[in-house]
Amino acid sequence: MKAFWVGIAAAALLLAGQASAAEVEAGKLAFETSICKGCHALETAGFGPSMLLIGRKYATVEGAKEIMTKKVNRGSRGQWGPDNAMPSQKGNISNENLSAILDYVLSLK
Ligand code: HEC
Repeated sequence: MKAFWVGIAAAALLLAGQASAAEVEAGKLAFETSICKGCHALETAGFGPSMLLIGRKYATVEGAKEIMTKKVNRGSRGQWGPDNAMPSQKGNISNENLSAILDYVLSLK
């Protein structure tokens, strides 16, 4: 019976979109070699906000990953100060790598 509930809990986590440790690790590697790193550092502000602060901002936001995916693909402005803008990154990164990077960013706290 216990195994049953553990299974349900694991399934619920999957449905909630929680990334596994392996997925987060893959995202870290993808970030290290991505174009994102040109503007986003892990913990310090660069041209863009740090990934740590972005992760914190979205930590409690419902549907965070979908929202972030749209922003990266369409571009974003004005969220981190009036003069800040990220141009659309569509075509600069594969969907798989973007998904992995966002799992990683959301794991930062
Ligand atoms: C040319 C520089 C640049 C590049 C390249 C870049 N970003 Fe950004 N990014 C920014 C800036 C500047 C902001 C802040 C925009 C704002 O204030 O709305 C930002 C904001 C964001 C946000 C948060 C938006 C919000 O709602 O707070 C996310 C998520 C993000 N970037 C992810 C990425 C990812 C993933 C990549 C790589 C595919 C990437 N960025 C590449 C400059 C960049």
